[in-house]
Amino acid sequence: MPPPPRRHFHNPRQPGPQAPGGKPPIKARAAQGEHGWDPVAAWYDKLVGESGSDYHRQVILPATLRLLAPQPGEAVIDVCCGQGVLFKPLLAAGISKITGIDASPQLIAAAKVRHGAERGLRLITADACAAGAWADGSHDAATCVMAVHDVADAAALFSNMALALKPGGRAVVVLMHPCFRVPKQSHWGWDAEQKIQYRRLDAYATAGEVAITTHPGKATGEQTCFHHRPLAELLSAIGQGGLAVTACEELYSHRRSQTGGPFSKAEHRAAQEFPLFLALTARRL
Ligand SMILES: C[S@@+](CC[C@H](N)C(=O)[O-])C[C@H]1O[C@@H](n2cnc3c(N)ncnc32)[C@H](O)[C@@H]1O
Repeated sequence: MPPPPRRHFHNPRQPGPQAPGGKPPIKARAAQGEHGWDPVAAWYDKLVGESGSDYHRQVILPATLRLLAPQPGEAVIDVCCGQGVLFKPLLAAGISKITGIDASPQLIAAAKVRHGAERGLRLITADACAAGAWADGSHDAATCVMAVHDVADAAALFSNMALALKPGGRAVVVLMHPCFRVPKQSHWGWDAEQKIQYRRLDAYATAGEVAITTHPGKATGEQTCFHHRPLAELLSAIGQGGLAVTACEELYSHRRSQTGGPFSKAEHRAAQEFPLFLALTARRL
């Protein structure tokens, strides 16, 4: 069956054919060979730092490692590795053969600065959606952390992840929860009468692209492109790619309000009711 037509969300930050300041819109810029995340690489490298953002440290990396259950001596490939936030935990778990691939030459360069001295680490600049020598069936396990929504073709991404794995090899994918985090379409709200913090969702079913400004306060803020996909499209892309989902976890925020009172209580409840991230484990078919 052909995939449903893709539509663009209305996004006030997404410029028209020509943005103020003369920058063409994000899709056109990607086509001009700007390597996607290169313009925001320095910002992202600083944000993530040595051991990750607080969400990385408290939620995402512990869940990734738990679900991956890395065994000493295994070969692991981290697809869309960025500046390599997962490498240190993998090395600490005894993984001695790590391949990191990312489309951004600048983030691969940052990964080399941070981890280049590690033995057994191979870093490759490559588009995860395109065929490549790295997808060679030699890895015991593959990861893709917080990046599925950054790639244009999810089925191609999962297909290449599957091809990178040995038959039966396992994959762990962690991403923004597609049901509760739709950029520009999902928000927290406060119901004063019921004293509850609720999650408002203005659109979900429409797959589409949203420009994300990395320095919202600055007129020159660079943008990345977020690809929202409803859950069914995401899961179908995994299957189309040749991976069978074996488990699913929904990950919740560790952050807790410190202010006390009804707001605080409501925030706690909301943090425990609405997951921020979706984690999936899968096996190569
Ligand atoms: C939010 S960052 C996550 C990086 C890293 N996994 C982490 O958790 O810090 C998204 C990453 O996806 C990469 N990316 C986006 N599209 C890609 C593609 N088609 N092929 C490979 N990498 C891609 C970007 O360059 C960026 O490093």
